[in-house]
Amino acid sequence: MSHVKLLTMEGISKSFGKAVVALDDVRFELEKGEIHALLGENGAGKSTLIKVLTGVEERDEGEVELEGEKIHPRSTNEAQQIGISTVYQEVNLCPNLSVAENIYIGRAPRQKFGGIDWARMNKDAEELLGRFDLKLDVTKSLDNYSVAIQQMVAIARASDIKARVLILDEPTSSLSNVEVDKLFSIMKRLRQEGMGIIFVTHFLDQVYEVTDRITVLRNGRYIGTYKTSELTRMELVSKMIGKDYASLNKSLQESREEKKETKAGNVFINMKKVSHQGSINDMDLTISRGEVLGLSGLLGSGRSETARVLFGIDQVTGGELEINGEKVHLKHPLDAIKKDLAFCPENRKTEGIIGDLSIRDNIALALQAKKGLFKKISKKEAQKIADEYIKKLEIKTPSADQLIKNLSGGNQQKVILARWLATNPQLLMLDEPTRGIDIGTKAEIQKIVIDLAAQGMAVLFISSELDEELRCCKRIVVLKDMERAGEVAGDEISEGAVMQIMAGGEAS
Ligand SMILES: Nc1ncnc2c1ncn2[C@@H]1O[C@H](COP(=O)(O)OP(=O)(O)OP(=O)(O)O)[C@@H](O)[C@H]1O
Ligand SMILES: [Mg+2]
Repeated sequence: MSHVKLLTMEGISKSFGKAVVALDDVRFELEKGEIHALLGENGAGKSTLIKVLTGVEERDEGEVELEGEKIHPRSTNEAQQIGISTVYQEVNLCPNLSVAENIYIGRAPRQKFGGIDWARMNKDAEELLGRFDLKLDVTKSLDNYSVAIQQMVAIARASDIKARVLILDEPTSSLSNVEVDKLFSIMKRLRQEGMGIIFVTHFLDQVYEVTDRITVLRNGRYIGTYKTSELTRMELVSKMIGKDYASLNKSLQESREEKKETKAGNVFINMKKVSHQGSINDMDLTISRGEVLGLSGLLGSGRSETARVLFGIDQVTGGELEINGEKVHLKHPLDAIKKDLAFCPENRKTEGIIGDLSIRDNIALALQAKKGLFKKISKKEAQKIADEYIKKLEIKTPSADQLIKNLSGGNQQKVILARWLATNPQLLMLDEPTRGIDIGTKAEIQKIVIDLAAQGMAVLFISSELDEELRCCKRIVVLKDMERAGEVAGDEISEGAVMQIMAGGEAS
């Protein structure tokens, strides 16, 4: 593709109140027919830049041009009308309208007398989706389909309304590998048709797989724009975090060495042929004090479901569960919390944050539940805990008073993690704890987990990223089709060994 300028943003600044400068004199440039990664640590300003571009937030300063014409959309609708479409991770379509309605919302084909021509609309929708290799029942409501499919419908819609710029803000964090591949082939197709695509992600593999150029932001400032093929990963990460990545990696390596020396203590959790109808089957699983047990398996293999049963969200319908040598029946998460269990779930939006509460209150929540409502945690105590974790996890915020909904996605995730660490549990269950978290902090969190185990905590670690499990765990149990399929431990642990079991190799 020849280099044709599509979009330029110049001198963009945006503050929230006095304390938060989200963007400070940022520039960004997009060409026709390119996929351009927008990268940076949690809170760097990526989503804010996109919100400014699409009229969700009003910019304080700066200019935006689309194909040489100054633009200033005041809403996503206006942005869409001039050809800028956004697909957020939380899909911004109407879940209870049909697939076809979602595609043609506001521009449905009409019959002679003005009524909607449903037959034609459905047929057009099928045809459009067919071009993306999607075969869906377009008359069904959208919420019948997975997040991945919903995102693809949104992208198909964007392509159909002849979007010139397509923005994808962390679209891949909840997709399986197959779905990611599909998304990428669609992105590449649209690139070929001349669309400019802005792609925000924390997965560096994906950056190198699919993007042409990279723009890095740090602390709301523009760091630079680079050709993907000319920037090594080391260089990229160093630019994102503003320090040398090698040193960070070294400290992780050191805690890993320590990990090798600490021995797992006595068994804390013992699941004996535990089942929960429809989610896990005959599960045998032990977790010892002082160990980080990895739980691996494909999406839907029963990883999160195992944690849900252990946390009393789903009840045991067969088999026995022992905690600390004692047979238990957990009827409710509160029972689990009282037994010193903690569970940091995967979906922070629906299971985690309470948007209108402060960071402080969000962090104190689980601890308060554990203590019981009659032993109210004082504001001073809550403040102390919050400050401690804001520091420890490097949560980017002016203060603990900030409402959690005003934090960047990755920083919200850190608050949820802090909530459960604050309960000082004996078993900590983490389901995709570093999803949406930038690479620097990811290493920090992994280190914290390893250190906690070294101090005697039992940890259940669920992650779709195998290298992360390999880094943190001395033992990995692999699940398949809601059952235990095998286990690798110690020196046998390798990506290959885990994948083999996942794929249906031998069980041990
Ligand atoms: N409505 C708001 N009120 C106050 N502060 C805000 C608001 N929106 C964003 N911020 C702050 O602006 C900064 C940039 O946030 P932004 O969401 O753009 O980060 P990001 O780069 O998308 O991070 P992530 O990778 O975690 O999604 C953060 O410090 C965030 O807390
Ligand atoms: Mg963001």
